[in-house]
Amino acid sequence: MSYLWRKKSLSGLIAEADDTEKGLKRTLGAKSLVALGIGAIIGAGLFSITGGAAANNAGPAVTISFIIAAIACAFAGLCYAEFASMIPIAGSAYTYSYATMGEFIAWIIGWDLVLEYAVGAATVAISWSRYVVKFLGYYDIHLPASMTLSPFDSATLADGTVVSGMINFPAVFIVVLMSLLLVRGTQESATVNGIIVALKVTVVLVFIALGWGYINSDNYTPYIPDNTGEFGLFGWSGIVRAAGIIFFAYIGFDAVSTAAQEAKNPKRDMPIGILVSLAICTVLYILFAHVMTGVANYKDFQGADGIAPVAVAIDHMGEADANGVITPAYPWLNKGIILAILAGYASVIMVMLLGQSRVFFSMSKDGLLPKVFSDVHPKFKTPAKSNLLFMLFVSLFAAFVPARVVGEMTSIGTLLAFVLVCVGVMVLRKTQPDAPRSFKTPLVPLIPILGIVSCVLMMVSLPGDTWLRLLIWLAVGFLIYFGYSKKNSKLNG
Ligand code: ALA
Repeated sequence: MSYLWRKKSLSGLIAEADDTEKGLKRTLGAKSLVALGIGAIIGAGLFSITGGAAANNAGPAVTISFIIAAIACAFAGLCYAEFASMIPIAGSAYTYSYATMGEFIAWIIGWDLVLEYAVGAATVAISWSRYVVKFLGYYDIHLPASMTLSPFDSATLADGTVVSGMINFPAVFIVVLMSLLLVRGTQESATVNGIIVALKVTVVLVFIALGWGYINSDNYTPYIPDNTGEFGLFGWSGIVRAAGIIFFAYIGFDAVSTAAQEAKNPKRDMPIGILVSLAICTVLYILFAHVMTGVANYKDFQGADGIAPVAVAIDHMGEADANGVITPAYPWLNKGIILAILAGYASVIMVMLLGQSRVFFSMSKDGLLPKVFSDVHPKFKTPAKSNLLFMLFVSLFAAFVPARVVGEMTSIGTLLAFVLVCVGVMVLRKTQPDAPRSFKTPLVPLIPILGIVSCVLMMVSLPGDTWLRLLIWLAVGFLIYFGYSKKNSKLNG
């Protein structure tokens, strides 16, 4: 059983990362890395999931959930920063654990990252679909509900009839589009990413600035709605569960670490990219959630799983007449914001699909997965086959699984990866105390332990069915590891 714990050597990995001849081009400075982080972070979590978390779990106290999730992410982020500056290599958490905790744990992380990246891409695609439906609706184009919802979702039409979904076609469309772009090698350059990031941050700032004046403090009473008697439905347990759900909104800062081989000065800039993008988004998120639950009552977002919650909030920005009918003050805002959100989501989907292919690329190179995942297209120089396989896999999730399910699977998978990265930092401090570290996580082992505790707390707060799905996913992973990977590992000598 010793194969379970065989490790890649730290010095070999560092040499691999330093080998600029064979490696990726080092073009990204600190600013681009921060922009990359924000580009991957701001997306469906903020614009789609916040509404549901407020309506179903936390009420206006969803702001507290954002603070809790940010603290947990900061602990994990500090651990990521140590690793990314020390082993600046594209495989990220998978590679860090291969060097610290051995092959089996590395396999678990790599397999688990599919939940973060591939299933995460499906989650954002489903949210994209909702905003597209909303946007087309402004122009009287109404796609049939059966073509825009999963078979587990339904929509109530204006006349009161309830229609069940069959397939979420727009979600598949955006996954296919982004996958084909990746196949062609159309990676968003730092400049394009910069433009999208500027757009997203502007949208968030405009929403906060315009909405602030329409906050109705009545909406904050009660700030923490009473627990219904069931764990996770309001009260403090609801706040913690909402933290586990909106944790999704922070996912992406770790994706900065997959760009480590493209950073000009990774030792200095990786920690900046990871931590500064996280800090900026935290401030924006808390303000955004404060305005969102201030302009509209949290109950107004009920069923926000089926509609675009930002649109609900914007519709509440206006003066109410005697009958309580609100005339929106910024009717133009909805269209503009939704368009920016659509562009923003598309870039998140692309970065996630890209991150996914990079992790599987590394695993395939190490022999743990079939060669098809590291085959490079002769003309486009991209792992085209891998991209197409994931296009299929992610499309299936996007078409047929409801948003809540994929969103929570993404969160639990990412939280598990964070836990293992925190453990890895402690292990490496023991096993390689003298290896050079340009960034050191402060207060080890306290910070990693707090990271582990807070991430586990959020995992525990997620519903039981999400745990079951995680366990099934890991069980499938074990079958593949013992059936294929352990025999084919390059470390077999
Ligand atoms: N944090 C990213 C989002 O919210 C994954 O879309």
